[in-house]
Amino acid sequence: MEKVLEVRNVTKYYGGGSVVAKALDGISLSVEKGEFTAVMGPSGSGKSTLLNVIATIDRVSAGEILLRGKRLTEMKEKELSVFRRDQLGFVFQEYNLLDTLTVGENIVLPLNLRRADYQESRKKLEQVSEALEVADQLDKFPGELSGGQRQRAACARAIITDPALVLADEPTGALDSRNSKKLMETFRSMNRAFGSTILMVTHDPVVGSYADRVLFLKDGKVWNELYRGDRSRQAVYREIMAVSAALGGEGAFMEGEEPLAAETAAPMPEGTSVCYGGPGMEGAPAAGEGRGLMGKDASMEGEVSKC
Ligand SMILES: Nc1ncnc2c1ncn2[C@@H]1O[C@H](COP(=O)(O)OP(=O)(O)OP(=O)(O)O)[C@@H](O)[C@H]1O
Ligand SMILES: [Mg+2]
Repeated sequence: MEKVLEVRNVTKYYGGGSVVAKALDGISLSVEKGEFTAVMGPSGSGKSTLLNVIATIDRVSAGEILLRGKRLTEMKEKELSVFRRDQLGFVFQEYNLLDTLTVGENIVLPLNLRRADYQESRKKLEQVSEALEVADQLDKFPGELSGGQRQRAACARAIITDPALVLADEPTGALDSRNSKKLMETFRSMNRAFGSTILMVTHDPVVGSYADRVLFLKDGKVWNELYRGDRSRQAVYREIMAVSAALGGEGAFMEGEEPLAAETAAPMPEGTSVCYGGPGMEGAPAAGEGRGLMGKDASMEGEVSKC
């Protein structure tokens, strides 16, 4: 398998003097081609910082980041902006479509910026807009679309250049539960139909359960990770809930945030075990410790075992 992304021992400090925040603390991870990875963890654990340093919006304080084997941490600004345009796709919480362009013009914009061939651009526009179910909306302006349609258009724009990596920070943050699920189906079809490699930050365990793999951050480090394998989405959802409860702290949700689908919050099946520990995971709470999601106490005794 080809490694698309390698984050090696990255530390990021913000501020200076006596008010220094260590947002990332020697974090290492890698993402393989075609993987759909979710990044979860309590507020302030470093999720957005991680995405920003990978996106080269922010510079690391130490360590290195490689995308398709190229060291981003060594590139100069001019080289970086071309690299960002050609190799990365972005989906943010707020759709970031340009209001004065039609939806079609927005989607095709990254290809126009690289002066791609017109016929090829039209073909690619047709292909991605059909796959992402926005083909009927191309002549409208973003203001005439629903939140879900706008976010699907933003996804189409993110993948039209076949980027090495799609970065998404809370892409469902402004959507209701139905549209959030639809957007996750969209992410999965981007992943399947176009082989997109996706790294997505989310607070929502239902959203996270659509990914192939979930990384949990705590205090600027990877604290745990889980793989979907061939398990159902509900099973992954339950495991995310269990890990988040063990993770404790402020929980995986922002205060007052509701999970998408209370109906999937079934109890953990007997015998389910969650592994945590390993390199960089010292200090993980014992099973059953810590506050659960949304401030509820989670008693996982007997269900979460340290492996
Ligand atoms: N521009 C900045 N200046 C100073 N400190 C910052 C800055 N950006 C982030 N931090 C600090 O770095 C840490 C990690 O922040 P980050 O935004 O990455 O967290 P997060 O996991 O994305 O949180 P949330 O879930 O609330 O979005 C926090 O302690 C935060 O206060
Ligand atoms: Mg954030």
